[in-house]
Amino acid sequence: MSEILFEITKDNLETGMRGYPVGFCTTSYVDPQKGLFYMGRPVSQMKDFSPIQIIYLLYHGEEGSEEQVAAFSKIIQERSSVNPKVIDAIYSLPKEGHPMELFASAVQILGMVEKKDDYREDCLNLIAKAPIIAAAVINYHAGWGKVTSYHPEKGYMENFTDMLLLKKEDPQQLASVLRLFNILHYDHGGGNLSTFVGKAVASGLQNLYGAISAAMNALAGPRHGKANQDCLEFVKQVLKQLGENATPQQMEQLLRERLQKKELIYGFGHAVLRVEDARATLFYNFAKEKFPQDSLLKISLLLREVGTKILSENPKITDPFPNVDIVSGSVLTAGGFAYPEYFTVLFGLSRVVGIAIQIVYERLEAREGKGTPIVRPKYLFKPKDHS
Ligand code: MLT
Repeated sequence: MSEILFEITKDNLETGMRGYPVGFCTTSYVDPQKGLFYMGRPVSQMKDFSPIQIIYLLYHGEEGSEEQVAAFSKIIQERSSVNPKVIDAIYSLPKEGHPMELFASAVQILGMVEKKDDYREDCLNLIAKAPIIAAAVINYHAGWGKVTSYHPEKGYMENFTDMLLLKKEDPQQLASVLRLFNILHYDHGGGNLSTFVGKAVASGLQNLYGAISAAMNALAGPRHGKANQDCLEFVKQVLKQLGENATPQQMEQLLRERLQKKELIYGFGHAVLRVEDARATLFYNFAKEKFPQDSLLKISLLLREVGTKILSENPKITDPFPNVDIVSGSVLTAGGFAYPEYFTVLFGLSRVVGIAIQIVYERLEAREGKGTPIVRPKYLFKPKDHS
């Protein structure tokens, strides 16, 4: 008899499948009490890892030696060029709508031109080419111009930072902020919405690019990836109302008033976590060290303290702690990237890594290489109540 993992009752229906195990994830897991682990290693220990070191770890399932990582980095660099047709197509997309709509379209277009119809090849190619695609989307949408050359040998995120054609006051600092953001968002277990959607679409044997494009549309929603943009707007609003030298009492009053008016307090709580998000802790520590005088970060830090206290008073709130989104946008802004409408594209640039690697597992390795079957859950019929 197989072990019973979860018993489903009618109360579990229409709950977003919260907590149901549906498969295996071989890259990362989220411990409600300890946060995110990449291949069994807490992210709190990985802030100084390079992007390629972590991508190697997620792709191969074990840490690489210096030589192995260097060889892998070469493989990624060699695959990083993009057919100019793809860039021209991105620059002809309508600018109306959210940049994530452009990014999802750009991934789809990349697939039309570059796909090999081999999940493993396409996974490595997409990871290699994603920085150029994301930079093209942002540069085009922002009207910053067109990149004419790129230098992947400078490093995965250094190259990306170079390709962003915004005015950079401190390019090195910007690269270090974008790098931290990038490595902390690669993967978040198997069941987050965009990852689940990407794997579900690939289960119908859609190619990797099509599946990732669908995943990016899933990530674009305000309850998922776009939360990082909305959180920064919230922090800015609080800063405008209270000023950077707000006291805990003023913050408490503002938050209580919002709760009374049934207005949202953004950036707290998570579907899985029951402690402060380990990624948020890393951003807070980074901010305290690098930007102690920044006004948005002063407000983010005050929100961390007062928001948690107030939300903890409500026994119905299972996770009153800050998640990554409440602080990541303030750090990006302080570090020289003050463009919230592109934050979700940065999230997408990062998350394509984890989703693509998880798709490779499900398509080529799961069930002794047979792959998982097409996703096809059951819905119970229920006539609409017209009374
Ligand atoms: C995250 O990074 O926090 C997520 O993708 C959301 C989740 O885990 O459900």
